[in-house]
Amino acid sequence: MNISIIGTGYVGLIAGACFAEGGHKVICLDVDKEKIALLQKGISPIYEPGLEELLKKCISSGTISFTSDSKEAVENSQIIFIAVGTPQNEKGEANMCYFKEAAEQIGKHMNEYKIIVDKSTVPVGTAEWVGGIIENELKRRGARIKFDVISNPEFLAEGSAIEDFHSERVVIGSESEEARKILHELYAAGENEKKKILLTDTKSAEIIKYASNSMLALRLSFINEVSQLCEKVGANIEDVSIGVGMDERIGPKFLKAGLGYGGSCFPKDIRAFISTMKKNGLKNGVIDRIEEVNQRQLELTFKKIEQLVRGVKGKKIAVLGLAFKANTDDARESPAVKISKILLKRGALLSFFDPKAMDNAKSIFPKEIFAKDAYDAISGCDALLIATDWEEFKRLDLKKIKSLMKEPNVIDGRNIFEPKKMRELGFNYLSIGR
Ligand code: UDX
Repeated sequence: MNISIIGTGYVGLIAGACFAEGGHKVICLDVDKEKIALLQKGISPIYEPGLEELLKKCISSGTISFTSDSKEAVENSQIIFIAVGTPQNEKGEANMCYFKEAAEQIGKHMNEYKIIVDKSTVPVGTAEWVGGIIENELKRRGARIKFDVISNPEFLAEGSAIEDFHSERVVIGSESEEARKILHELYAAGENEKKKILLTDTKSAEIIKYASNSMLALRLSFINEVSQLCEKVGANIEDVSIGVGMDERIGPKFLKAGLGYGGSCFPKDIRAFISTMKKNGLKNGVIDRIEEVNQRQLELTFKKIEQLVRGVKGKKIAVLGLAFKANTDDARESPAVKISKILLKRGALLSFFDPKAMDNAKSIFPKEIFAKDAYDAISGCDALLIATDWEEFKRLDLKKIKSLMKEPNVIDGRNIFEPKKMRELGFNYLSIGR
């Protein structure tokens, strides 16, 4: 099929590359000409395992191309995915200005029947709204062309996005039988025949995305709250999580206590969901509290650091990890960044190391030290904070760490080390819920 994707962020690039790998002809469109120039050379503007290799492969097989020309993209595709950003606005809602622009461009250049697919995370009612914008553009041109708008939210997680594209469920929300059939074919063809696909109406599809992210974040805040009790009474949150997750009705995923959630999705999506509820005259109960608990987790961790080093002012603290989770260079709404900001405000001196996210974090902390590796960051510090659970941190030489530190204080915000072993090695060690 001929597909175009508007927006070359995480969602757009992964979808584009994966559809192109499946043999479809894909045009990726972005207003950012520098980004397009990079992509044309096969360079990915974001770090995502396997993405750059996939892009290069599809470029050489001629199944993917990149452009800033919206006419070219719209005219040459039957299916148009809108995958532009929907960042948070000052009211906590999704900012739909890029989405509106994309819909206008589609209406402006549409030459024959098209299926427009809302892929970004957008509030309920967006498919209808997009339809209205395109209709207006067509009217303005005096054109009468049939089109359908579908909701097909993205469920990929950063760090495992390509794998998720193939294994995650597909939700197709449509009011048109014809469009639904075509999209179903797109996803269920060939080896993907057994893919889990849910066919529903557009509004339900739009809600599924927000409800899923809110539910996952709710689990995290829940388990983090339980970790506080574990700590108070001397229980172990890791075992509690395993035990709770052994119930098949609950399941083991998203029960890892830590510094709380971050990233480009959960924080903004939960706020947007709350705002949609309010707009519809509904009272929030549980959803409203998710973020509060998430924030408290950071404050409690800060208190732990303070207790361990007896006041953070003037103390040198090494922060390992800046990304909001492992396997990504993304530091947006990262708990590591947030807790570092609290530490700096209270007068601590920080040295950072992250395997991938340092470039993205340098503008946030222009005056701080960015070390060349973990040992370099740790050298001479009064305390070490593990803020992201990168695999390579789990393999660090603990004896070497102890010999490099001024004081052997470790706060493990991701529970990557064993408390017993750490204490045996002579560390003053605090973690989460243990
Ligand atoms: C999330 C959703 O998982 C994905 O389906 C959606 O499409 C986009 O939002 P992502 O933001 O990439 O994906 O990250 P995710 O893996 O969900 O992690 C979010 C945050 O929760 C991270 O800060 C992570 O460290 C934290 N987390 C996750 C925990 O603290 N414990 C866990 O058990 C799982």
